[in-house]
Amino acid sequence: MAAELVCFEPSCRARYPVTDIIYNCPRCGGLLEVDFPPPSLPASSLRELWRCRRLSDAPLDRSGVWRFRELLPFDDYSHAVTLLEGNTPLLPAPRAARWAGLERLAFKHQGFNPTGSFKDNGMSCGVAQALRLGMRRVACVSTGNTSASMAAYAAAAGLQALVFVPHGQIAFGKLAQALEYGARTFQVEANFDQILALVRVLAERLGIYLLNSINPFRIEGQKTIVIELLEQRGWRPPDWIVLPGGNLGNTAAFGKALRELAGLGLIDRMPRLAVIQAEGAAPFYELVRRGGGRLQPVAKPETLATAIRIGDPVSWPKALEAIRATDGVVEKVAEAEIADAKAVIGQCGIGCEPASAATLAGIRRLVDAGLIRPGEDVVAVLTGHLLKDPDYIYRYHCRKLATPSGGAIEVSYANQPLVVPCDADRIAGLIAG
Ligand code: F0G
Repeated sequence: MAAELVCFEPSCRARYPVTDIIYNCPRCGGLLEVDFPPPSLPASSLRELWRCRRLSDAPLDRSGVWRFRELLPFDDYSHAVTLLEGNTPLLPAPRAARWAGLERLAFKHQGFNPTGSFKDNGMSCGVAQALRLGMRRVACVSTGNTSASMAAYAAAAGLQALVFVPHGQIAFGKLAQALEYGARTFQVEANFDQILALVRVLAERLGIYLLNSINPFRIEGQKTIVIELLEQRGWRPPDWIVLPGGNLGNTAAFGKALRELAGLGLIDRMPRLAVIQAEGAAPFYELVRRGGGRLQPVAKPETLATAIRIGDPVSWPKALEAIRATDGVVEKVAEAEIADAKAVIGQCGIGCEPASAATLAGIRRLVDAGLIRPGEDVVAVLTGHLLKDPDYIYRYHCRKLATPSGGAIEVSYANQPLVVPCDADRIAGLIAG
């Protein structure tokens, strides 16, 4: 049996060929998931195979996505596009651990990817699927990182990229990437959720392949973040994996990865997922707090962590299932908490973009609340590189960070640059003082 698309709705479960260009179930509108037969190799052989590939020079073996291809829904790799994504480090961060009240903490830093975010893991597969389908154009709406990644992979694959971003609401580092990689870029005067609806209409009308995380092949690629993380830990699951939540594609991917790894016997217990949202864009937090039901969108999502400024996350049913299957939790954090957590991650010599720092702020809250115990083994996923949003950093350290409505944000770790005359005595005095 080859890979198929299957409706995620328990009451439907309709199946479709992977060659159908659909993003929702045509019968019930549910999300789609890729289903494929599990590899026939036992867990020990898979571990050995993946380890051996690390010594190989073949491009697919060197990719931190395609190295794990037994868990990807492709049986022909002629369409695989790689920029050497994945292979991201797991960095111990004792200082950040202490700040959050933990004995130990490690960051899985997805900012080390070719375009500086975790989106590359998914895009590598998404673009491969676009090529398998014979599509010539790909499109996405994005808070910045998806567009940067799609632009790069489309360029590498010889596809035309059409990028739609909320005008004035994405960090310049990300916009710059989309332009430099040659994407046709539209700055739309609307928010992410509104533009997603627009892009879906355009994709349908113009026959363009949609590469938002509603695309189940993106999710398949993002599973490898968790696979690689567990491999790096000798297949010992941590107690917690903490990640930021925006459109919830990554949460969905992590849930699917853990389900598959447990099914194959590659892990013997489930880590708990903790998803952290920004206070002004926390519909998933509210959903889980209410104990389920349907997600109530936030009409006007607001946060300076623009990557997760999303009020109507499409992947919430899959994310909810991931939280249930892992006995997970969802937390929300304030702007000042994100900002300080980010500075603390910087002080570790690691650094990340604002949305990523929501993880550390969330851990601190969850430790305070007694949900995460100080001795537990915690891995947080830093989703994007520090240089994605330098403007935010400069404003933080100059104490000029303000909430979207203009309120000042009190920060604790500002490191303001000094403007000085070109005068050795004055400068020596300042250093001594
Ligand atoms: N962190 C960063 C740096 C992101 O760019 C995103 C999402 C998230 C976290 C949230 O991940 O959506 O899977 O829950 N960025 C998307 C984009 C929406 O368009 O780049 P999620």
